Amino acid sequence: MSFKLISSPLQSFTEFRFRNALDNHFGGIDTYYAPYIRLNVKMEIKANYERDLFPENNIVQELVPQVMTNDPDEFLFVVKYVQSLGYNELNWNLGCPYPMVTKRCMGSGLINDPQRIDEVLKKAHEESDIVVSMKMRMGYENPTEILDTFPILDKYPIKNIGIHARIGQQLYKGGVDLESFQNCLDKTKHTIYYNGDICSVADFRRMQDLFPSIENWMIGRGLIADPFLAQMIKADTEVFPDNRWKLFRKFQYELFDGYAGALSGKSHVLTKMTSFWEYFSVSFSDSHKVFKKIKKAKSIEAYHEAVEEIFKDFV
Ligand SMILES: Cc1cc2nc3c(=O)[nH]c(=O)nc-3n(C[C@H](O)[C@H](O)[C@H](O)COP(=O)(O)O)c2cc1C
Repeated sequence: MSFKLISSPLQSFTEFRFRNALDNHFGGIDTYYAPYIRLNVKMEIKANYERDLFPENNIVQELVPQVMTNDPDEFLFVVKYVQSLGYNELNWNLGCPYPMVTKRCMGSGLINDPQRIDEVLKKAHEESDIVVSMKMRMGYENPTEILDTFPILDKYPIKNIGIHARIGQQLYKGGVDLESFQNCLDKTKHTIYYNGDICSVADFRRMQDLFPSIENWMIGRGLIADPFLAQMIKADTEVFPDNRWKLFRKFQYELFDGYAGALSGKSHVLTKMTSFWEYFSVSFSDSHKVFKKIKKAKSIEAYHEAVEEIFKDFV
């Protein structure tokens, strides 16, 4: 069966530099979701969100902006903004698990308030022609919370509901709850995308066997840890290309160069690259040692030395 792969957004990671470098070197992703836009009291889009969405900064074929809010006016404001940049779809984040967000009844903290969800969707659909898609967890405290939102969601022409098969309270701990996910599939007319813990081709195959009706798969952390993942899932192979490490090294340098040219001060660049290496290091058999080497580098020169040492046995 044909299927599509979606890059699930990670704030501060899957920004335009990452998306462009991934698409340039590896491919395999059909649609990229941008990390969420969040307004801060004022109806104003922060410059870093703007940069991330400007068409001239993005080379990927399909990019979908995302918003995190519980307010109909804010939602509409962001709709108008993304439409002004030429986007016709806005993804709504009802998945973020962090207490700072959920306590304010946003992200996964909004799932148990179907009436508020209705108000936002009503305004968006009455006052704009934006295509809305959703990204949700299955609840905050309980994986059945999402079921009470379905009668509301079913009233609107939602493009799809991406479901991260966890609840908010779990944060990223514990496993995905596949039984509750299956229950969601049986309870809505909308198209569901699967999300959660696809970190290898084998994981993907297992999920595909379990959920044969799913045609769209969202991959987040697994794609940062192994940027070959989408390409290899598409090629249905577990065999890495011969030039695996050479490509990985080039990809890493493209990211580094992008951030070095944009961030002021070496410490910002090092912090950014270290956060990437926390994921990249998983691709290496001695991941702990690899990450330690990067963390120890306190200057740009030391960072490059560490990177070269890591790759020296492979390329
Ligand atoms: C550091 C971090 C940042 C994230 N930022 C976002 C975000 O901006 N928007 C969103 O919808 N999900 C965000 N997520 C959730 C991921 O998109 C994804 O749903 C989650 O990691 C589960 O998928 P995975 O197991 O494939 O990573 C974030 C996750 C992490 C770990």
